[in-house]
Amino acid sequence: MDKIKRPTDLFKSDLTVGEVSKRSGIAVSALHFYEAKGLIGSHRTEGNQRRYHRDILRRVSLIKVAQYLGVSLSEIKAAFKELPPDHQATSIEWKAMSSKWKKRLDDRIEHLIKLRDQLTSCIGCGCLSLKDCPLRNPQDQLAKQGSGPQLLE
Ligand code: FES
Repeated sequence: MDKIKRPTDLFKSDLTVGEVSKRSGIAVSALHFYEAKGLIGSHRTEGNQRRYHRDILRRVSLIKVAQYLGVSLSEIKAAFKELPPDHQATSIEWKAMSSKWKKRLDDRIEHLIKLRDQLTSCIGCGCLSLKDCPLRNPQDQLAKQGSGPQLLE
């Protein structure tokens, strides 16, 4: 016997914001924020309630991982331009996107190692000198702006 599909059944495979929150571990307010920033998308039921396609779980997971890696929301949004909110990404597309952030993570690790090594020379010093402290003025970057007190101008 065939069941008659009711309008609400059409969206049964979709998720409410509460379900997305529960399954992803991301607060409802954060999901609304991501949506306002254009990172995720939803559609409305006949009763004007938000519904998300199940693929949203993968997308919000990627957002959280990217944020954990230090990728800004604007960078995530730029990366998502290749994956519009209503597009169900394939695993190959996700892999391509996440591999772009590997370089960024490598750069960040290298930067943190340098920072750690420079901090070693600062421990116990406390001068925070613009001239001598590698943390206050890394690689004497202020010198590139010209001679004299660059920060006062
Ligand atoms: S605090 Fe003195 S060199 Fe960094």
